[in-house]
Amino acid sequence: MNDFVKIVEVGARDGLQNESVVLSLDDKLTLINNLVDAGLKDIEVGSCVSPKWVPQMAGSTELFAQLTKPTDVNFSLLTPNLKGYQAAVAVGCREVAIFTGASESFTQKNINCTIAESLARFDDIMAHAKADGVKVRGYVSCMVDCPYEGAISPVAVADVVARLIDMGCYEVSLGETIGTATPDKVEAVWHECQKRTDTHLLAGHFHNTYGMAIANVYASLNMGIRTFDSSIAGLGGCPYAKGASGNVATEDLHYLLDKMGYQTGVDKDKLMHAGKAIMERLGRTSRSNAAIAYWQS
Ligand code: HMG
Ligand code: MG
Repeated sequence: MNDFVKIVEVGARDGLQNESVVLSLDDKLTLINNLVDAGLKDIEVGSCVSPKWVPQMAGSTELFAQLTKPTDVNFSLLTPNLKGYQAAVAVGCREVAIFTGASESFTQKNINCTIAESLARFDDIMAHAKADGVKVRGYVSCMVDCPYEGAISPVAVADVVARLIDMGCYEVSLGETIGTATPDKVEAVWHECQKRTDTHLLAGHFHNTYGMAIANVYASLNMGIRTFDSSIAGLGGCPYAKGASGNVATEDLHYLLDKMGYQTGVDKDKLMHAGKAIMERLGRTSRSNAAIAYWQS
């Protein structure tokens, strides 16, 4: 098999937004430089959100401005509204990620508006992005379960995904926000989405609270999904989904893909070093099984 799988590294955003240690600009630059060095080509750098809501992401535009930017790496910033979009574009950002959910309660807690209101805000962002030639990625949280409402219907998820694609997102990442889903549930969501949206426009974003993330990646691969978000060392969680742990670790995702014969463009040894460095800085052990095994062998 010689199939390419795109890894979107979200550790500097999804990971660090939920870490109690707030890293300095230099520490974040070091992390991102190490990720670039490991061969990752799609890196979410931070968020242009209210610092009152997510203090860990304050300074994301300064961070973006100071990055060394190889031309073959896509760096992006998360933006909930036009204010965030304008802040991102002002520092030269050429790709933003907009984010909403398939659950009304989660969306309200996360971005303080209804799903419909969030989509209206995104229409504004999209109009500017089209004029500016900026790429827009979409996120839909709660693809299976919501921390406040429980199970979410796959049809509701597929609806929001289709809306984001229709308004011009080049890809939509489905967030398994609280890491409770099992592969059968995830398959049902892809099945519903695939009725309306081309598979190559879909991405999987699996949190690993119950250790199901890699199983969910495997199920998604079998349904044709070829883009996955992951977080170095399994950092992070979501501040508005209490108890949710980090994303699938990039090292674990890479292990699965590499052993199954998929191409990723990632250098395993450099990836392991990137994970080791950030965990040493944070002063705790990695949540990646592949990294723990690598350093023990
Ligand atoms: P709001 O309070 O409704 O907004 O928050 P507002 O328009 O009334 O403004 C309130 C204050 O925020 C004002 O400042 C604005 O200027 C400021 P004040 O006058 O009080 O000093 N403000 C901003 N500041 C910086 N950047 C902005 C911005 N917009 C307004 N863009 C808002 C609405 C969306 C801003 C707020 O709810 C927010 O920032 N939420 C952030 C939520 C967040 O970052 N969540 C984590 C990321 S999502 C996630 O992790 C899920 C995902 O990983 C997928 C998955 O796993 O499911 C993507
Ligand atoms: Mg997430």
